Amino acid sequence: MSGEAKDWDERYRSGFYGGNIEPHGLVKKFWKAFPGVFVADIAMGSGRDAIFLASRGLSVTGLERSAEAARIARESIGGKNLPLSVVRGDAARLPFKKESFNGVIVFYFLLREIAPEITAILKRDGILIYETHLKRQNAAGRSMNPAFLLDDGELLGLFPGMETIFYEEAVRRDGEKTRITAQLVARKR
Ligand SMILES: C[S@@+](CC[C@H](N)C(=O)[O-])C[C@H]1O[C@@H](n2cnc3c(N)ncnc32)[C@H](O)[C@@H]1O
Repeated sequence: MSGEAKDWDERYRSGFYGGNIEPHGLVKKFWKAFPGVFVADIAMGSGRDAIFLASRGLSVTGLERSAEAARIARESIGGKNLPLSVVRGDAARLPFKKESFNGVIVFYFLLREIAPEITAILKRDGILIYETHLKRQNAAGRSMNPAFLLDDGELLGLFPGMETIFYEEAVRRDGEKTRITAQLVARKR
């Protein structure tokens, strides 16, 4: 999911995206697989996963384009002295050097063309944790832009050369919401 920056600012301002501070289940399940402490959260949002990881001692860089999301994340970090830096920027031009991170997480954000850059910023043996909606989500009553939704099986093919550790497409309950998503955990070789 991408969309205009001002739309995202509006959504965060309305409280719609800021409220949930519970990390995603896939992060909770696989974060210990990171082979080192340096982790990037691309399109971090208001920081639910980044704060979880930083609270466990990982050194997290959260990239986010929305000023409002970044503000909420910084407010949540407050005086906690967490190893989390919030970077305002556009994921279409990832502001990171190659082989910088032991882990990259991407949740509910899709820009297919940056898949090679995501692989490139991982160090060898680094772990990618990725989850986002499938096109089937729209058949279940949502009306998201299909350009930012995955075909069945597509996420598996976006990161060629990486070793798949876990892959699943499923209908999941997330509070009040039904989400139809693909989940990928993969290791850079
Ligand atoms: C559905 S939210 C997901 C946020 C977070 N990953 C999560 O799952 O809670 C999508 C996020 O992508 C951000 N975003 C959209 N386009 C972006 C871009 N080009 N670069 C960086 N962030 C972007 C939005 O501001 C928003 O915070």
